[in-house]
Amino acid sequence: MSGTDHELKTVFVKTYGCQMNVYDSERMTDALATSGYAAVDSPESADLILLNTCHIREKAAEKVYSEVGRLRRIKEEAAESGRAVVIGIAGCVAQAEGEEIVRRAPVVDLVVGPQSYQRLPELVARAARGRVVETEFAVAEKFAALDRPAASRTGRHAAFLTVQEGCDKFCAFCVVPYTRGAESSRPVASIAAEARRLAAEGVREVTLLGQNVNAFHGEGPDGDAWTLGRLLFHLAEIPGLDRLRYTTSHPRDMDDTLIAAHRDLDALMPYLHLPVQSGSDRVLAAMNRKHTRDDYLRIIDKVRDARPGMAIAGDFIVGFPGEEETDFEDTLRIVDEVGYASAFSFKYSPRPGTPAAGRDQVPEPVMAERLARLQARIAAAQAAFNASRVGMTAEVLFERPGRHPGQIVGRSPWLSPVQVSADAALIGSIARVALTDVGSNSLFGRVVGKAGADRPVVEATA
Ligand code: 5AD
Ligand code: SF4
Repeated sequence: MSGTDHELKTVFVKTYGCQMNVYDSERMTDALATSGYAAVDSPESADLILLNTCHIREKAAEKVYSEVGRLRRIKEEAAESGRAVVIGIAGCVAQAEGEEIVRRAPVVDLVVGPQSYQRLPELVARAARGRVVETEFAVAEKFAALDRPAASRTGRHAAFLTVQEGCDKFCAFCVVPYTRGAESSRPVASIAAEARRLAAEGVREVTLLGQNVNAFHGEGPDGDAWTLGRLLFHLAEIPGLDRLRYTTSHPRDMDDTLIAAHRDLDALMPYLHLPVQSGSDRVLAAMNRKHTRDDYLRIIDKVRDARPGMAIAGDFIVGFPGEEETDFEDTLRIVDEVGYASAFSFKYSPRPGTPAAGRDQVPEPVMAERLARLQARIAAAQAAFNASRVGMTAEVLFERPGRHPGQIVGRSPWLSPVQVSADAALIGSIARVALTDVGSNSLFGRVVGKAGADRPVVEATA
């Protein structure tokens, strides 16, 4: 920090949406810390309020405008006591709406798209003097700022690490290719350096993030473009990084090295989030998903052959334009065929500027009814998956105290929460847990020993 004794300023960041946004918010906080901003957890006490928005589903922009309405009062009250507050909108709504935001909400001082976060301190300083809208794409610079040392993550044992951004798939419902831009990957050396730093800070589990993470093609130290599989083999060598995960993937990019990584790397957790969106070939084609139902099922088989007992998670959209009852029944069937460990499901919501937005919409009551049926089917699949784990012994990374005294909670290799009665000193470490029971959304068990390099991550209890 510089030698000047200027007053410390404060920033409040509110995060909407995906894990990429959670990660970006941390990065923004880190970048602002270098120019003297301390993070606070209420907007009332902040000099800078940032909304890191998500545009992926329903009424995202409207929600942002109503939140801005609330912030306006905070800004006005602060002004009355002589304190200037800067309001900034970041994230995908910022990228998609751009100038429109300051037109509709003149109280907003700064609009900044995900491509420009590395310049945040400078943009905030300019916004204090007059409105700034920064939504240009500058892909080459995008990852440069991430090469700075990450802020300390004391007390955190699982971290996210962005390796890829953007998407070239252009699914007909999705705004990501427009808001996050073309697919671009971070160089391997920079990812490995950050992973080593995280491991040195005590992080045991790293989840590699990207909107289309398995399309990763970052430049390797040898000058070649590396696949995600190759990157995982490389990161698995880092001492102390016991667990690796990645999210989110597209079926078309599940290549053989990635499947081999699931076969060969103990550190790569037996969990795959692979959205299918629909079980109907007709709808998949209309969605421009570039894969069929059968392609998807064959990939799942291959992955499960490579790593038996793998947990599969998914995403579904119901009521995509043109979806008939028979298409929807194909979706219900695929839930049973895959045996999902968990899945997110959404009603289709038109995103302005995407190809499907102008098509004939499925009526709302039909969507609501289908969503309820799908969610019941997913809940049944999830319960069956959890029940099938009882009787196994699995490694659990303990992350926090549980709701009841004497309880701690961690994550199984399949990402499900696991609750045990054990000493809080275990938080931050990995222990072997005999799984004895299932709850509605979590597993229960008892600690039976330390994690050992000579034992598999999961085994059937003898
Ligand atoms: N309507 C509904 N759901 C959507 N998703 C993405 N775009 C839309 C949309 N327009 C869902 C998809 C994706 C998840 C992140 O959000 O299922 O996988
Ligand atoms: Fe959107 Fe994912 Fe399709 Fe890319 S692959 S367009 S991020 S849904």
